[in-house]
Amino acid sequence: MTNQLNQVLLHENNQVGSNLEAWLANGGGEGLQNALAAPEAIIKTIEDSNLRGMGGAGFPTYRKWQFVLAEKDAEVKYLICNGNEDEPGTFKDRLLLEKTPNQIIEGALITALATGVNHLILYINPHEEKAVEAARQAVAQWEAHPLFASVADSLGRPLTLRVFLSSGLYIGGEETAAISSVEGGFPFPKKKPPYPAQHGVHGQPTLINNVETLAHVTHIVKHGAEWYRNLGVGQASGTKIYSLSGDVLHPGVYELPMGTSLRDLVFEYGGGMLAGKEFKAVFTGGPSNTILTSEDLDVALDWDSVQERRSRLGTGAMIVISEGTGIVKRVTEYVDFFADSSCGQCPPCKIGTRQISKVLRKIDTGRGRRAELDHLVNLGKLLPGSGRCALVDGAVTVLNSSLDKFKSEYEAHLIDR
Ligand SMILES: Cc1cc2nc3c(=O)[nH]c(=O)nc-3n(C[C@H](O)[C@H](O)[C@H](O)COP(=O)(O)O)c2cc1C
Repeated sequence: MTNQLNQVLLHENNQVGSNLEAWLANGGGEGLQNALAAPEAIIKTIEDSNLRGMGGAGFPTYRKWQFVLAEKDAEVKYLICNGNEDEPGTFKDRLLLEKTPNQIIEGALITALATGVNHLILYINPHEEKAVEAARQAVAQWEAHPLFASVADSLGRPLTLRVFLSSGLYIGGEETAAISSVEGGFPFPKKKPPYPAQHGVHGQPTLINNVETLAHVTHIVKHGAEWYRNLGVGQASGTKIYSLSGDVLHPGVYELPMGTSLRDLVFEYGGGMLAGKEFKAVFTGGPSNTILTSEDLDVALDWDSVQERRSRLGTGAMIVISEGTGIVKRVTEYVDFFADSSCGQCPPCKIGTRQISKVLRKIDTGRGRRAELDHLVNLGKLLPGSGRCALVDGAVTVLNSSLDKFKSEYEAHLIDR
């Protein structure tokens, strides 16, 4: 697997593992110094940078921060740095945690200065043992460093930073499930509202950001919003990390300018298709997302351009498939994953994902009828929004996208076609 270590977050200068002194000697800490000098200016800088959440939803980061900042009366506030990352095809956050934990921690400390959060939790998947170890070592060094004390002084309240091992379950990455975990329970998602910004860990205001999002923060506050915006292609802002996998010659983790075309990602950086294979499609943003086809190869990979194609950038997971790969089989595998991952609290999610996977399997193995395909289409309309979290929506999104782009492939499998 290739790692493209030539941009910002994955720049070789940042590959110092958990060594804080090496991080600071290579230009780390400057973002934090800027933040300490003018904490009230940070949110505006993040707004001007157009940074959006890298955990899947792409929500504007500054807006979430404003909600938490607005909770002025709370005595304590939490930040969960979300490094659960358990979706198939997504493998960027573990690399960041393992190779560059200091930029995530610095981003978290800057976030504390911007929003007043004072309990910082690195929420990491225990299956990623190297990431856990690197994060633990980095935390110990930060806690002993004078910069840490300066942040606590500026906040005017006790500051804590710790590693918390998640359940290792996919559902544990959902924000309210992460809160349940940190409170000591099973990662059951909670109904919203109330939103975490008002009522999170132990009822206190809680901010949840993906670890990649926080890593970007460090560099934005170091170099400024304009510098960051100019990293993107055209109107796009900054960079994005992609987890590229599937039928390409060089699968791996690539940090590229936001707005790089899908064609360049697959054919230039990914080295093109495996020998003898033709590009068919890419599951964009991971299995809980949408499909782009060869007609979309020239789309710029930025939030808005991808959305114009009725798709989403999501976490930046890109699973490439070649001609000859059955769409129905692949979608069945993904829906099976979601059915297995449902926490079971909401019947439409628990039963709906199982229903979809049962019908998909029947169609894929040539035992399905048109009425069952119609049933799938109907489930795709009925289920979105029926769970307390977005797990069922993810299963339905990939189903609907496959029906939208490859309905004829479904029809070709039917007995009564
Ligand atoms: C089922 C499910 C699993 C999720 N898993 C993760 C995860 O592993 N890591 C993550 O950052 N976000 C995950 N999310 C999204 C989070 O709920 C949340 O939106 C995100 O952590 C916010 O960070 P951001 O604004 O920086 O993107 C998941 C969402 C759902 C519905």
